[in-house]
Amino acid sequence: MIAEIVEGCVYQETLSIYKKCFFGATFFLLLGLAIFEVSGKHLQYSKFWNSGSKNSKKSLISSKIGMLIFYTPALFACISSFWLFPDGGIRFLLLKSAITIHFLKRDLEVLFVHKFSAFTVLDSVIIISATYFTAAVCMVYFHHQTQGLPEPSIDLKYLGLVLFLVGISGNFYHHYLLSKLRQKNDKGYKLPQGGLFSRVVCPHYLFEITTFVGFSLISQTIYSYLCAVGVAFYLLGRSYTTRNWYLSKFENFPKSVKALIPFVF
Ligand SMILES: NC(=O)c1ccc[n+]([C@@H]2O[C@H](COP(=O)([O-])OP(=O)(O)OC[C@H]3O[C@@H](n4cnc5c(N)ncnc54)[C@H](OP(=O)(O)O)[C@@H]3O)[C@@H](O)[C@H]2O)c1
Repeated sequence: MIAEIVEGCVYQETLSIYKKCFFGATFFLLLGLAIFEVSGKHLQYSKFWNSGSKNSKKSLISSKIGMLIFYTPALFACISSFWLFPDGGIRFLLLKSAITIHFLKRDLEVLFVHKFSAFTVLDSVIIISATYFTAAVCMVYFHHQTQGLPEPSIDLKYLGLVLFLVGISGNFYHHYLLSKLRQKNDKGYKLPQGGLFSRVVCPHYLFEITTFVGFSLISQTIYSYLCAVGVAFYLLGRSYTTRNWYLSKFENFPKSVKALIPFVF
């Protein structure tokens, strides 16, 4: 019964050995990044740009430029997918549009919403930019490969669309609240307030995961589900270390505020 439901939620793709290896590598890369975060080896951006030692030997770039490099190659890949794969029906159109809107939104937030205080380490910029670019290209490409296959018997694309819209709205709202914590030229950190910040330190991550779950339900390919699970693992790790960071910096940090999932984690 459960196996039938699971089967009904995903395209029955042929899995070549290469595809299996690639899917496995993607999953373990994201899982590895999560484990590194929890064990203190952070990707060096935002609060953790100067974690670890020997940053003096590393190339630093401003957070704004670094984050534009994170997202812009993926955005161009998504935009070009409309020309490269113009066909494919409503599901493929929804997927291409949703991913494009996501990366466009992130670039616009970097330009006009976030107020950054510091730097990003070039090594981390390269890893993150390459990961986003690969995820965007592969989500589109592996979906394109489902053309001609029967549709999954359980259609989740409109549920996915709703989750995507909830995800980007909630993510944007909490980015806006974070930006209100700083006046012009202010570089300090404060305890975030409003929205779900009274329950968790990283509500914006929770909504980011919701966005990726949205992509996966729109697409219903194995790769898109893998990306959602991988992003969830990574952000679980990063939110856990972010909560520890708040605990170490703010004496009055309320212990009832969790990392990512209200009341749970
Ligand atoms: N898909 C994925 O795997 C993934 C992974 C990570 C991030 N993301 C996306 O990227 C977004 C941003 O991630 P992030 O890790 O950079 O978030 P973040 O550390 O919360 O930073 C977001 C912005 O808010 C500022 N900020 C954060 N906490 C603050 C505080 N206590 N007081 C004042 N300002 C504060 C940061 O300034 P500073 O730069 O000065 O710290 C930065 O400008 C996420 O919401 C998510 O959408 C996606």
